[in-house]
Amino acid sequence: MNKIGPHVTIAMDGPAGSGKSTVARRIAEKLGLLYLDSGAMYRAVTVLAIHNELTSDSPELIDQVKTCHIKFTNNGKRILLNDEDVSAEIRTPQVNRLVADVAKIPEIRHEIVKHQQRIGSEGSIVAEGRDLTTIVFPDADFKFYLDASVRERAKRRLAELRKQDAEATLKSVEAEIKERDEKDTTRAHSPLRTAKDAIIVDTTDKTIDEVVDFIITAICKGENPSK
Ligand code: DC
Repeated sequence: MNKIGPHVTIAMDGPAGSGKSTVARRIAEKLGLLYLDSGAMYRAVTVLAIHNELTSDSPELIDQVKTCHIKFTNNGKRILLNDEDVSAEIRTPQVNRLVADVAKIPEIRHEIVKHQQRIGSEGSIVAEGRDLTTIVFPDADFKFYLDASVRERAKRRLAELRKQDAEATLKSVEAEIKERDEKDTTRAHSPLRTAKDAIIVDTTDKTIDEVVDFIITAICKGENPSK
């Protein structure tokens, strides 16, 4: 039994660099819930395309998505694609470059959303991504939209890149973030939107701990604009 109730769904959306993955993971740990990283599933499909030399819009890829097995282990820390651990491969620059094109294909989204909803129906979760509060779990018990300024998100991303000794600059990372925002918010199918019943959390000047505390307090108080 988790610390909130018998079956609870906490959904979070937000743009790249808003902190939602780290925050969602911590909240899942603290509350004893399953963590669902929806972006990792689109990344796994991108790996599937690369392994089979398929383009994102090929009918073969859609067929393969229908029959492939994507599974999380270690409470969302590792991801298996047809029993192969692709946790490292989903974070490569090649996947970073290709994933937005895979994630915009409606038939692929349809399959992945069904899979996410199945995971959600099996137990309590904290799920994060771009359409969790709007499309995947429109009736989630709690919804949050995490955001931060482009500058702050670029700084966070740059700090991550520097760990790998990359030569990125704040300017280039800011441009990349803006491009991803544009793709995520303007695509025809399931664009990133703020659900009208989500609590908006601006993380620009907040530490991860502050955001986690704020969200857990809201959950414990039962603050949910949609209910
Ligand atoms: O959050 P991320 O960077 O791992 O997401 C990878 C890509 O997948 C990114 O292009 C946005 C997309 N995505 C999506 O379209 N819908 C989701 N629910 C999660 C991610």
